[in-house]
Amino acid sequence: LNPEQPANFNLKDYLNSQADRINPALDGFIRRSDETDRLVEAMRYSLMAGGKRIRPILCLASAEAVGGDSAEAIPVACALEMIHTYSLIHDDLPAMDNDDLRRGKPTCHIAFDEATAILCGDALLTLAFQILSESPPIDAASALKRLEIVHILAGAAGYRGMIQGQMLDIASEGTRLTLSELTALHGLKTGAMIEASVRCGAIIGGASNSQADQLSRYAQHIGLAFQVSDDILNIEGDPSIVGKSVGTDQLRQKNTFPALLGLEESKEFANQLVRQSLEAIEIFDERSNPLRGIARYIVERKR
Ligand code: IPE
Ligand code: IPE
Ligand code: MG
Ligand code: MG
Repeated sequence: LNPEQPANFNLKDYLNSQADRINPALDGFIRRSDETDRLVEAMRYSLMAGGKRIRPILCLASAEAVGGDSAEAIPVACALEMIHTYSLIHDDLPAMDNDDLRRGKPTCHIAFDEATAILCGDALLTLAFQILSESPPIDAASALKRLEIVHILAGAAGYRGMIQGQMLDIASEGTRLTLSELTALHGLKTGAMIEASVRCGAIIGGASNSQADQLSRYAQHIGLAFQVSDDILNIEGDPSIVGKSVGTDQLRQKNTFPALLGLEESKEFANQLVRQSLEAIEIFDERSNPLRGIARYIVERKR
């Protein structure tokens, strides 16, 4: 039996085993600091609260898909999760979405206080780049890869990426965006970091330019699908499973796919995006089965 055959591939086991590599590494990066520190306590609280780790797992899976060694991608995966966690902490603040539940626990500003939550986010964002610039192995070739990764991540997280998406999301509350405006917004808010996760994994794994481009296309589709399914879960999800409050998008008059297209059409759109993502990596061998599984998981997930 070939263990790489699709029939033998169990996504749940794969996700768990990758999370089991990422979580101790994340914990280790924070543990190096002073344990009695309130700031460090808040950083660990949010980081270890039980996120799905989709972005770091995508990074590892992309490195593996092109035949690379994903061990080398662990610090990069941790940096991705730190940036993502920071974005959630700030997203939940009273001035943003004003949410009190995240990852099944009180949000950072509720568990601590607003100033601590703002600073905790700042600290996670900067720590991510510190890790990228210091963690071994650093020979000349991997240092160059790291430089490219810093560039990609800073761009994806920044003012032409996720932050711009957040800005548009807040600015458009109460207004009606067109389908193409909403697609652009979601692509920035959520898609940019997901594409960066895949692209960084591809770089670590030694992808060719054409492989990296195909993986980027895969990622653009699942990135958009991810936010569409987040919008759907905000309507249909069970808060005890989702780990966040539901019904909040409608309350805040957010622009979402279900609000624009309706629930059923949004689901069909998400499925279509998944099919397109699978087409983008059609010619990849069985080492990209985890990426295929993750694409399906994104629209089937309950949390
Ligand atoms: C939530 O991201 C925010 C979005 C971009 C939709 P996740 O659904 O990946 O949240 P965690 O990391 O599992 O908590
Ligand atoms: C969060 O988007 C996206 C980022 C933090 C960049 P949302 O506000 O739609 O996601 P949730 O539902 O709070 O996780
Ligand atoms: Mg938001
Ligand atoms: Mg939010």
